[in-house]
Amino acid sequence: MYRTCTCGALRLTDVGRQVVLAGWVHHIRRMGALVFLDLRDFYGVTQLVADESQTDLQEILREVNREWVLQATGMVRERSSKNPKLPTGDVEVYLAQIRVLNRSDVPPFTLEDESDGGEELRMRYRYLDIRRAPVRDALRFRHEVGRKVREYLNAQGFTDVETPFLISSTPEGARDFVVPSSRNPGLFYALPQSPQTFKQLLMVGGIDRYYQIVRCFRDEDLRADRQPEFTQIDCEMSFVERRDILEMFEGMMRFIFREVLGVEFSAFPQMPWEEAMAKYGSDKPDLRVEMPIVDLREIRKGLEFPAFDAVEYVGAICVKGGARYSRRQIDELVDYVRQPQVGGTGIVWMKAEEAGLKSSADKYLSPEKLRRIADAAGVGAGDLLLMMGGQLRKTQRVLGLLRLEVARREGWLDPKVFKPLWVVDFPLLEWDEETQRYYAMHHPFTMPHAEDLELFESNPGAMRASAYDMVINGVEVGGGSLRIYDRDIQAQMFRALGFSEEEAEVKFGFLMNAFRYGAPPHGGIAFGFDRLCALMGGSESIRDYIAFPKNNAGRDVMIDSPGQLSEAQLEELGLQLRPKFKPREE
Ligand code: AMO
Repeated sequence: MYRTCTCGALRLTDVGRQVVLAGWVHHIRRMGALVFLDLRDFYGVTQLVADESQTDLQEILREVNREWVLQATGMVRERSSKNPKLPTGDVEVYLAQIRVLNRSDVPPFTLEDESDGGEELRMRYRYLDIRRAPVRDALRFRHEVGRKVREYLNAQGFTDVETPFLISSTPEGARDFVVPSSRNPGLFYALPQSPQTFKQLLMVGGIDRYYQIVRCFRDEDLRADRQPEFTQIDCEMSFVERRDILEMFEGMMRFIFREVLGVEFSAFPQMPWEEAMAKYGSDKPDLRVEMPIVDLREIRKGLEFPAFDAVEYVGAICVKGGARYSRRQIDELVDYVRQPQVGGTGIVWMKAEEAGLKSSADKYLSPEKLRRIADAAGVGAGDLLLMMGGQLRKTQRVLGLLRLEVARREGWLDPKVFKPLWVVDFPLLEWDEETQRYYAMHHPFTMPHAEDLELFESNPGAMRASAYDMVINGVEVGGGSLRIYDRDIQAQMFRALGFSEEEAEVKFGFLMNAFRYGAPPHGGIAFGFDRLCALMGGSESIRDYIAFPKNNAGRDVMIDSPGQLSEAQLEELGLQLRPKFKPREE
């Protein structure tokens, strides 16, 4: 037997017990005649102590170092100086015996809560990083969230069904990862961007309620909230209307937030996409702050202010109490909106100071005009109004980003407060100037609003989709839709997307065929599991919740992937690299 208990278990009530522990040496302190060893395992840390009288231990104690793996036998006793930060901090184990189970090189960074190792180094030695309590706790947290998700869905009668990884392209819109098939020279599998078509086929197969916590693969640009392989909680239901789905998954969120975090939600508001864009400049509004965008298009008419006259749209946000902002603080906000990734041109500001209204456009705007703006925008004493003009969607987006930046600077975005909502009624299609065609905003299987069906021929750009996103604190945690289950509507959709009948047949023939055989009305949703964990855990980066994540270049620096294939492997697959794709010799 390696141990009688774990390093997190011992309490005052165990004093006097003879115990055996096993774990890693976390710290060693040599203080005169005493040696203190903190022994760590998955469950916690326990202090071991030895003194000079234990002559047979001295040799090992001189040699032992951080991260050695030990088995320690001894007697539990009360500590003279207790450590209230540790659950085991009231006791220590007075050593009788130590067995070295394994030695360790000195780790390349400290394995403390705050490590001295940079991200790249910690990723290279991720197995050491995982020994650190914050990483271990994040993985445990993820396990707990997943367990609760399964508990809820199992109780609701969902069946967990696995779908294949070696498929051909799914039309989710990102680039596919492809896998050559040696048995079928010249042909390639694609890894699924999601199990979308398979879950729909499961509905045609009569499975009724499906779920899967499943890996998805997308070869797209990486950000803090995106990984090339990530996990979805993927769900689909038959014989449902939108309301049934929203209720079911609102229920799921309520259950897991209550069970895991003790957070209670009331009913989730439903916000049409158009309203989200107009009020928050985003399809994933963060409702922890109110501060909505105000539309100043009406009011600008009599202002005769050139900057606002010539543009499609004028809007503003009103920062409560912002009149105290210094010139420098406002300049910083201007610099923020002018960053290329934000894309703004500038800010026209107005302060409601005790002495009256003051503005960066005093030259053009008389006190009376400023008053009209202030009244229209609800500017109260001590407030600051940040105004912008430009193209409609672009300016709304910049105002939305500015709103979040102000909220961040003010500390209004408390990670412990959760504000969920559904964003509904997305546009069905999005026009792409570059390729001069429509793309499905969600995916091509999304059902249009019944009352918009007639617009397929006349004005497809105005059609709304039966799609919904669940958004919490500005994070899109999940998205889904009611699906098309009618061959004719699906064919119309493919036409609107510019697919010829032949193309549609080649790409989606299997689905269209399935729709010949009695497809039930169905719909579903998929949640980003990594994102959900990061959000619930209060972290900005989903990497913290993935055991072995990839870096920003999509590389796993620990196993050094992606890697090269040998000439023989390429030969076997019938592949040949053109010179420009040959990796440089290191
Ligand atoms: P969608 O593409 O919106 O929908 O994906 C669903 C959810 O998955 C998460 N997500 C990601 N998480 C981490 N890294 C990524 N690269 C990444 N991409 C997406 C997001 C997102 O809300 N088949 C549809 C779902 C459906 O219609 O049922 C789909 O995949 O949290």
